[in-house]
Amino acid sequence: MELLEQIKEKARSLQKRIVLAEGSELRTLRATEILLRENLAKIILLGDPQEIKDIAAKENISISGAEIINPRSDEKREYYAGLMVEARKNKGLTHSDALELLNDPLTFGPLMIKAGDADGEIAGAINSTGDVLRPALQYVKTMPGVSVVSGVFFMLFQNKSIGDQGILVFADCAVMPDPNEQQLAEIAITTAKTAKSIANLEPRIAMLSFSTKGSAQHLLVNKVANATKLAQELAPDLMIDGEMQLDAALDIDVGKLKAPGSKVAGRANVLVFPGLEAANIGYKLVQRLGGAEAIGPVLQGMAAPINDLSRGCSVSDIVNMVAITATQAE
Ligand code: ACO
Repeated sequence: MELLEQIKEKARSLQKRIVLAEGSELRTLRATEILLRENLAKIILLGDPQEIKDIAAKENISISGAEIINPRSDEKREYYAGLMVEARKNKGLTHSDALELLNDPLTFGPLMIKAGDADGEIAGAINSTGDVLRPALQYVKTMPGVSVVSGVFFMLFQNKSIGDQGILVFADCAVMPDPNEQQLAEIAITTAKTAKSIANLEPRIAMLSFSTKGSAQHLLVNKVANATKLAQELAPDLMIDGEMQLDAALDIDVGKLKAPGSKVAGRANVLVFPGLEAANIGYKLVQRLGGAEAIGPVLQGMAAPINDLSRGCSVSDIVNMVAITATQAE
């Protein structure tokens, strides 16, 4: 079965409560109809109920199985504001400020999750990554033992000889502009867990650079080499190697030549980029010029799954991301 079908089947069995924070957005409403019809999750739309129902009726979209919550008038606002003040007491957040912030669905959604009223959230069809992530980072925070939230893409290729059955995992393509050594090591380890839990991969992780095993000398190379050492120490059971160039990571002959004896070189299925610039540009090159389907960004490391859509997303991107979010909430 294809990866997305496997994910959808799992989501269907889990029946998680997923908040769609941009409840009056048209693609989101069209996705809601499909999600309900395919029984992939319980859907909670945030926004003005009358506005949402009017748009759905005008566009002939059936959303009758979705719950609609108005962040401006919901009865739980006082309770959520209390949770916010508690979470941000060292930042001086007042109760009235919290109530004001709760008018924004991008804050209300994470608070529903924090309170146990929802299992995951999706937004980003009309909001920037930063605006989606900031309240999530502030209130849902990271999972125990993790300090860095990052984002992966599952790159799906028609050519099944690439990666594992045509799947490669790229990180961090979405969040940390310039991770330090410790953060890069953590991103590698978290990505391995995501690759395993979502795509059932046995991760072989290449820590990418413009150098392979000391072939170039530069501070940027040292960063990746040190992060590799740290990740190997922190997760001795994982197959992690670096620093290495992309060709050494993916091409078996180049891998043997440049990194002899490496268990990862030439066979990598997880690529950890040294920073967000390379990663974000890298996944888009592979998507646009290489023809791969890019599923993501799937955010990882958060205490509950919150995922960010691209503003250019399609209806099926939203459907897929809800299914992924539901499986992450397991
Ligand atoms: N992991 C965990 N916590 C984090 C992270 C992280 N990666 N980044 C920030 N935080 C925490 C901060 O410590 C802070 O906590 P505090 O308020 O309790 O002290 C809180 O989150 C907010 O952080 P700020 O520094 O106030 O917010 P910032 O403006 O730095 O926003 C953000 C963080 C939004 C993630 C920022 O780093 C960012 O914009 N990253 C790039 C996102 C992006 O544009 N990606 C590319 C597009 S996505 C795509 O193309 C697929």
